Amino acid sequence: MHTILTIVVAAGSGTRMGTEIPKQFLTVDGEPIVMKTLRRMDEGVARFLTGCSPDVDKTVGNLPNVDNSVHKLALVLPEAYIPYWRELCEKHRFGIPHTVVPGGETRFHSVKNGLGAFPEADIVLVHDGVRPLAGDGVVARVIRTAMALGAAVPVVPVVDSLRRISGGDGHSVAVDRAEFRAVQTPQGFRGDLLREAYSMPYDERFTDDASVVELSGLGAVALTEGSPANIKITTPADLAVAQVLLEG
Ligand code: C5P
Repeated sequence: MHTILTIVVAAGSGTRMGTEIPKQFLTVDGEPIVMKTLRRMDEGVARFLTGCSPDVDKTVGNLPNVDNSVHKLALVLPEAYIPYWRELCEKHRFGIPHTVVPGGETRFHSVKNGLGAFPEADIVLVHDGVRPLAGDGVVARVIRTAMALGAAVPVVPVVDSLRRISGGDGHSVAVDRAEFRAVQTPQGFRGDLLREAYSMPYDERFTDDASVVELSGLGAVALTEGSPANIKITTPADLAVAQVLLEG
């Protein structure tokens, strides 16, 4: 039996959206974004555990027996918005069990707080609260690879051309986009590995969980196939795209 923990991090201030309330609480397809994200992860992990997920690369290690495994959800929110969240849950009759945890100063501190909610978890997924479109295939590939190899992140090819900006004089040079991948969430880890990585002191180079594991020297992070639909809602244009994708 395994305990899989999904930490949904939603304690950021979301200033790029330009709205009064943080973007994770904006409504998309009739529900706050972060509620949709919790629903998606609840369903995606359940489908993995019941063997219903498509597209899983069966060559990545042997899948341990996941019979009787349980899935726990921790939601990390800005402390000041926890009462508002409770109101939203009542208003939308949101019944998926989850533990609410107050966030920290940076994403690193928020994840650390989430880890503390279920310190016995065998596998931990960390997912951005503003990614309500992580499909079953993405979720399954990450869990399976994390179980087999310890650490896994979903990635997609970069579609735009890329330029490196050097200095502050407007000079830039083209770089080969084939050498890069854009990193998504959920990112998946064996629990012991992630807890050890997060016991490190904070470093400004920590941008996501993979960077914490990598910079703590605890091992390599495997790449799995992400999805172009698994967008991070950051701007008003992203919100419009998410609305269309969720309706579809
Ligand atoms: O700032 P950025 O968009 O990279 O944030 C990624 C995710 O981390 C978002 O879901 C955001 O709400 C979350 N976050 C957090 N605590 C912070 C900062 C960001 O949970 N202090």
